[in-house]
Amino acid sequence: MSIPPDIACLKDYERHAQQALPPQAWAYIYGASADEHTARGNEQAYAELKILNRTLVDVSAGHTRLDLLGHSLQHPILLAPVAYQKLAHPDGELASAAAASAQDALFVLSTLSSSTIEDVARSAAGPKWFQLYFQNSAEQTLQLVRRAEQSGFSAIVVTVDAPINGLRNREQRSGFRLPDGISAVNCPSKEIPQSNAGESHVFQGLMSRAPTWKDIEWLKSQTRLPLLVKGIINPADAIMAAETGLDGIVISNHGGRTLDTLPSPIEVLPLISKHINGEIPLIVDSGIRRGTDIFKALALGADAVMIGRPIMYALATAGALGVAHTIRLLRDELELTMALCGCETLSDITTECLWQPA
Ligand SMILES: Cc1cc2nc3c(=O)[nH]c(=O)nc-3n(C[C@H](O)[C@H](O)[C@H](O)COP(=O)(O)O)c2cc1C
Repeated sequence: MSIPPDIACLKDYERHAQQALPPQAWAYIYGASADEHTARGNEQAYAELKILNRTLVDVSAGHTRLDLLGHSLQHPILLAPVAYQKLAHPDGELASAAAASAQDALFVLSTLSSSTIEDVARSAAGPKWFQLYFQNSAEQTLQLVRRAEQSGFSAIVVTVDAPINGLRNREQRSGFRLPDGISAVNCPSKEIPQSNAGESHVFQGLMSRAPTWKDIEWLKSQTRLPLLVKGIINPADAIMAAETGLDGIVISNHGGRTLDTLPSPIEVLPLISKHINGEIPLIVDSGIRRGTDIFKALALGADAVMIGRPIMYALATAGALGVAHTIRLLRDELELTMALCGCETLSDITTECLWQPA
């Protein structure tokens, strides 16, 4: 697979992926919850923020390095946990993990990976974290954590915003089902909790085993790895995460895939950043498609960012090469933006770099 010559940015990969993927897989990957207001709003919120550049600054010693939870990283672009990557390419997570390593990007593996934890670990020479969904029992949950620990994953990212599936209408209309041969190979088959007659399918059924803050505290006591929560939008939850002693927060609305009409992470970031005040790292995802988006997130208090769908678009278009190219494009765009704003390092990117109308 080679990179099509007309690709200049991430949106070009999106266009190619739509052509390359079966319509049902496209609906699953591109789609979002209900009327998809949140998914559209994620990108729109970045477009509406304006940058205030600086000229005539010497940036000849510039770089994008940072330290994040024990890792020295070359740049702040992480690959978000994305389920079932074999939908986009036969090598799935093995390809994206290898691409992440080649481009010095930290890789986050989904619980719903279509490749085994151990195989991905062998493919990813660079830093990698494991994204955890709580399983049917504490034992099964711990089994996943232990496998991640033994395979060299260096943090656990618990996703907390999707205890039940979002109402993904586009996906439902398309009739999407996982094709034969693609499944969540690391998970025991999930038993769907049933409700009794007269009870709510949601409250007494699906949510009856959903994790709470107590489970997060329990998990913290079970692993020595840094523990992050992913899917925080409400500043009250961010404060709770810090008070619980967690090691980081991923501010995310799941790319608009769980609850429609949530605000975008970039909109809530200033308030969360104010409350957290540098105590623990803040990572932002949902709608990052440009180096300028990364710059804006860092200006408002993020330490790093993650990309989700762009991994699948790149995989579908050009496999591992596409993912590596996607990371490189974003990094180049970030460096360019920093240079044109007189920022030599990530810590030079502050709110002063954004235009704030009086
Ligand atoms: C197809 C798909 C599958 C996803 N699977 C997971 C998952 O298994 N676990 C998780 O925490 N987030 C999952 N996400 C959410 C991403 O981690 C991330 O939050 C989101 O994609 C970021 O938004 P973006 O796609 O606009 O970059 C998934 C997203 C997509 C598009």
